[in-house]
Amino acid sequence: MINFKERMETLFGAIEIVKNNFLNSLKEKNSSIHIYTHLDADGLSSGAILGKALFRENIPFQITVLRQLEKEEITKISENIKEFKNFLFFSDFGSGQYLELQSQLILKENYNSFIILDHHLPQNVSSKEDIDLIEEIHKNSFQWHINPYFFRVDGSLEISGAGICYLFAKSLNKKNTDLSSIALVGAMGDIQNHGPNKSFLGINSLILEDAKSIGLIEIKNDLNFSSIKPLNEAIAYSKEITLPGLTGDVNRTLIFLQTLGILMENSNGNIRTLNELNQDEKQKISTAIIEYISTKLDVEPSEIVKKLIINRYLLKNELSGSEFHDLTEFSNLLNACGRTNSASLGIAIAMGDRKKAYQKSQEVQTNYKKSLFKSLAWIQDNQKIQHMEYIQYFFGEDVIPENIIGTIASMLVFENLEGFDKSKPIFGLAKRENENVYKVSGRVHKKIVSKGVNLSQAIREACKLSNLDVLGGGHPPAAGTKIPIDKSEEFLENCNIIIRNQLKKK
Ligand code: C5P
Ligand code: ZN
Repeated sequence: MINFKERMETLFGAIEIVKNNFLNSLKEKNSSIHIYTHLDADGLSSGAILGKALFRENIPFQITVLRQLEKEEITKISENIKEFKNFLFFSDFGSGQYLELQSQLILKENYNSFIILDHHLPQNVSSKEDIDLIEEIHKNSFQWHINPYFFRVDGSLEISGAGICYLFAKSLNKKNTDLSSIALVGAMGDIQNHGPNKSFLGINSLILEDAKSIGLIEIKNDLNFSSIKPLNEAIAYSKEITLPGLTGDVNRTLIFLQTLGILMENSNGNIRTLNELNQDEKQKISTAIIEYISTKLDVEPSEIVKKLIINRYLLKNELSGSEFHDLTEFSNLLNACGRTNSASLGIAIAMGDRKKAYQKSQEVQTNYKKSLFKSLAWIQDNQKIQHMEYIQYFFGEDVIPENIIGTIASMLVFENLEGFDKSKPIFGLAKRENENVYKVSGRVHKKIVSKGVNLSQAIREACKLSNLDVLGGGHPPAAGTKIPIDKSEEFLENCNIIIRNQLKKK
């Protein structure tokens, strides 16, 4: 296999090709631009990067945020181009639908003024090991399609949709190097900080170098708790650090902190945040937690440190203590906007609006957190999770709407929720308003992915086996689709069989 540097050069060369196609089309047709992007934090970051880059070139554009690039949406888009003839960008989706785009735009309408900038596995590709198929797709679509898998780069770990858009924007104009920070917000939104102590890997680490080189970002070793919540809450509700006797109990956690001799109130009478603590205080807490866990759980201190101490990425030009200062909180804020029908707010924020949009987003985030909390409590209190032998599933009924069904499934699998069985994939199904379809979100813990489970492949196969003419896919640990309501039983049964087969194969 060719080395990383050579693969990067091939990627940059491929970006030059689509960029030149874009610039030529612009010159010839003088068309305006329509960006279609995904509604999660990575999708909003992608749209914002493209928008900002075009704005800087004085190129008019509009952005549409979609929950997914479904067949019906592609049909609508292909109808629209007959009239408007916009140049189209598809960011953070499009690869999983590339055949559909090719057939509806190029083959049917003879229209090739579009570019896909995505990092999901391309349509019909079941894993990154399908090298021959991936190469063939690359060969057939190189003029309008950029995807990291074409260059043996893992799109679920090493670069996000926003990262791909950033590379495009940088090739358009070096000035756009300052959008590297938003590219990393996107990567964080897709939880790509999977290196040791939550560092970035692969191309993400190159993007990080760009951000560091112009003084946008600094990396600090920090405790693995929210930097902006009251510290007792941050510790008690940590998703990753479990402290028996303290987890879930804010009062006892507060007493634990106070007994370390740390003053826990700030001058306004509020409980201090991690952000407000000095290095000595953090050191004291870190030592106390390591001691606490190692006695209660008999875990080696070196193992605890791996989880407890993380890289914190701070945006130096942002206000300390605000969501924008910390990359993780920034991506949480964008996600909240996208998932609560406030996507344009998220785009405005990612493009730099720190005034009205920011104030509004605070409200959005509070409501979003409330609805997540309510949904999880409803599932747990009413035992809504049902089991088959190899999968588990739940219906959102009239409590969990389509836009957050995936987030709830993610929280169940990736967070420390008591009593939840992480050994099987979970499928959440939420009815779409005014349509007889369920949005399906599948999630599985990475430990089960390493045993051979691939949800992107499973969902695509289950759709086929159930005779469903719908698009589906994503990444091995997280994938989605939509299905007619009366097909849900058959679809889930097929998922059960496919997961069983995937586990047997390995
Ligand atoms: O929609 P949901 O959050 O469940 O999607 C999980 C992942 O699968 C996301 O990365 C999403 O972009 C991807 N996906 C896809 N094609 C679909 C549905 C979801 O690539 N039809
Ligand atoms: Zn993404």
